[in-house]
Amino acid sequence: MVYVTKEINFSSSHRLYNPNFDNDTNNAIYDKCNNFNGHGHNYKLQVTVAGIPNPETGYLIDLKKLKRIMMEEIHDKVDHKNLNFDVDFLKGVIPTVENLSVIFWQILDSKIIEGKLYKIKLWETEASFVEYFGEEIEVRRFEGIAK
Ligand code: NI
Repeated sequence: MVYVTKEINFSSSHRLYNPNFDNDTNNAIYDKCNNFNGHGHNYKLQVTVAGIPNPETGYLIDLKKLKRIMMEEIHDKVDHKNLNFDVDFLKGVIPTVENLSVIFWQILDSKIIEGKLYKIKLWETEASFVEYFGEEIEVRRFEGIAK
């Protein structure tokens, strides 16, 4: 088995809050990330595909193709966007780096045909990241998250 990884970057804004909680509770849980008018992060996304290289090409997956999938399916939808308002596949989702990882997995898994999606690693800051290996997780969607 070989593991092939591609990395991309994007910049997005968001606000973290649960519409079912009052302001004090949201502030206690999310602190500065609950800032009413949002704030931004420079995200880094690594996607790792596992499999056996094609004996004819030597490739598991062409990294140009993997990058194109990541750019079209993720980057172009979230870069310079507000994750609470602007992204269809995040409607109602509290846009934590945990939830983003799970949803990115769901999107990318169906697009990666050569090899198998093995890991998503998503940095929200240089010192904070999530790793996700595709275990069954359901991300909750809320009414009224984008008000
Ligand atoms: Ni934040």
